[in-house]
Amino acid sequence: MNIHAYEKAWLGVSLVLIVLFIATIVYGTVGAGVAMVDDSGDPVNPDNLNEHREFSDPGVEQVGEDEYRVHVIAAAFYFNPGSPQFEPIQVPANSTVTFHVTSRDVIHGFSLPGTNVNTMVIPGEVAEITVEFDEPGEYGLICNEYCGINHHNMEGMIQVVPEDEYQPEGEQ
Ligand code: CUA
Repeated sequence: MNIHAYEKAWLGVSLVLIVLFIATIVYGTVGAGVAMVDDSGDPVNPDNLNEHREFSDPGVEQVGEDEYRVHVIAAAFYFNPGSPQFEPIQVPANSTVTFHVTSRDVIHGFSLPGTNVNTMVIPGEVAEITVEFDEPGEYGLICNEYCGINHHNMEGMIQVVPEDEYQPEGEQ
């Protein structure tokens, strides 16, 4: 069988493309840390968050030298803390922050544009997502799952403050 030289070249190019596509998918899932929402976290009772060890008093908690844990309750139509009627979420720069988010009512989103934080928040489940904040700045927090009439107003704020200006919660 005689394969034309151009045909051979294109066969080679398409093989390389296939390998590249597979490589980008592998990078996307492993390298960039993209993960699906799963039920690996502890389930919670959405009707009884006031009794929950962590969600009864949601907020920022230091768990290591530069590591913080933030519990957030999403509900129609606010994030507690984070939304204007609650405390803003404040963490220092150069920190690693893990958000634990659950919903009191329906499915919400928890998205911080400009970071890798973008997760679904499901009642009964705890979404867990880690982000590194290197620079001081403000990040808008938005719900990106349609959750009702005021979905478009469901928003909040994360303030990343310079390390020497950071005041742990309760000492402000
Ligand atoms: Cu909550 Cu949309």
